[in-house]
Amino acid sequence: MDVKEIERLIKISKERPLLPEKYIPWEMEPAPEDIFLPEILTSLQGLEIYDTLTPAQKLELGRHELVQVIASYAWGECLFCLFMTRHILTLPLDNIEHRFLLRELIEEFRHQEMFGEAISKLCGQPIRQSGIHKFLGEFSNKYLPADYLFMGSVSVELVTDIYGNYARRANNVYPVLRKMFDLHNIEEGRHILFTKSFLKSHAAKAGYIKRTLYSYVILFNILFVRTMYVKKEIYERIGLENPDKVFKIATKNFKKKFSETCLKDIIEFVDEWKGFNLLTRWAWRWVLDAKV
Ligand SMILES: [Fe+2]
Ligand SMILES: [Fe+2]
Repeated sequence: MDVKEIERLIKISKERPLLPEKYIPWEMEPAPEDIFLPEILTSLQGLEIYDTLTPAQKLELGRHELVQVIASYAWGECLFCLFMTRHILTLPLDNIEHRFLLRELIEEFRHQEMFGEAISKLCGQPIRQSGIHKFLGEFSNKYLPADYLFMGSVSVELVTDIYGNYARRANNVYPVLRKMFDLHNIEEGRHILFTKSFLKSHAAKAGYIKRTLYSYVILFNILFVRTMYVKKEIYERIGLENPDKVFKIATKNFKKKFSETCLKDIIEFVDEWKGFNLLTRWAWRWVLDAKV
């Protein structure tokens, strides 16, 4: 790990903390022209049915799906904090990894509070994780070794980074949400740098089998994240007929869009340590529609 670089990241985190309570203009209400999620990230955009929705339905779709996205982040971050709290117990207090992770934990707790605030500001009703998500989340949290967990977390961070970038660039996104993504991207940017630096040595030492396993851990983490956002209940809420049918085509549509918009950075990362091979490439193509 590059100690000097991590010291620099710790210093920025201490000297320039971004407090959600100050950084985000919570008092602002959405203007009539504001949206909640860039259209490209919604599950129905790109399908014929999307053009039949009224402006109010499109707005509501974005609001419900945005709530689902940030509620999923908050849940994932809570699991991350649980694991890292146990992990730092194994490291001395003056260890650089321990010191950075303390900063990351502080920031991740603030993020969870911020996402919760944003959900209540939007009167959101997040849908709880499915049984399989809950089981896999908790199981991997308990039993995966640290390097695998870091692999999983960096992949989720790289995907959320892309969501953040879309939201920050769209100037009609409700300012509270734009600033929220802004804050999140800045801090997650540091977490990504740290995790990549931490994993560099692990990936360099890893042989064929381990690289294959790392690649699968990342693939499943991405699949895990992708399947948390598209929900049948949301189509019921916005008054669509036949929500089961809509759910089916939306899932397919979102898989394709997700592959086109969200996978570039993660593919580059996996490629850096040769995570695509005979045993993994087919699965990336099949499960994630990845162009690898
Ligand atoms: Fe975060
Ligand atoms: Fe993070």
